[in-house]
Amino acid sequence: MFLTTSLLLFLHLIAVTFWVGGMAVMHFAVRPAAVATLEPPQRLPFMAAALSRFFFGVSIAVVTALVSGLALVMALGGFARVHWSVHGMFTLGLVMMALFMHIRFAPYARLQRAVAAREWPGAAAQLGSIRKLVAINLTLGVVVFALAVVGRAF
Ligand code: HEM
Repeated sequence: MFLTTSLLLFLHLIAVTFWVGGMAVMHFAVRPAAVATLEPPQRLPFMAAALSRFFFGVSIAVVTALVSGLALVMALGGFARVHWSVHGMFTLGLVMMALFMHIRFAPYARLQRAVAAREWPGAAAQLGSIRKLVAINLTLGVVVFALAVVGRAF
């Protein structure tokens, strides 16, 4: 049982680290570097291609985090038995997942269509929306990390 929960926690932490760390890299390094070095006709297809690869990984990470998290809850005796911080993690985790789905199927889908049509102002507007929503999800992710790790002390 100890090995099973350890493996589940490992999968859980790899998934959320990829997701939150990946958002930080996209937000603080990739996008600013693209803005500083590329003109819109190069930058917008580049960002659409980078987000396409990142969001594929995030889709796998979201499913892995949710399944491993719920399996951990079951292994720890169910929601009635776990610490309040796990309830907070679950609630905020679901908000983060809903926000990711919104980004993936609304502004990101519109970004891909605008890039395919070479409509650079429209594509830039969608990328601006994605940047703001990713910043919100990144903040939530850091809050959830704090809740999961520091919250256990209370
Ligand atoms: C949405 C569904 C989620 C569920 C059901 C869930 C559930 C759990 C459970 C049961 C544990 C083990 C707690 C313990 O050993 O006492 C755990 C650990 C952890 N989770 Fe989640 N989690 C979810 C999402 C997330 C998200 C989105 C993040 C980060 C952004 C996150 C970060 C962590 C961390 C850092 C730990 C390790 C805490 C520690 O061992 O100190 N979880 N999670």
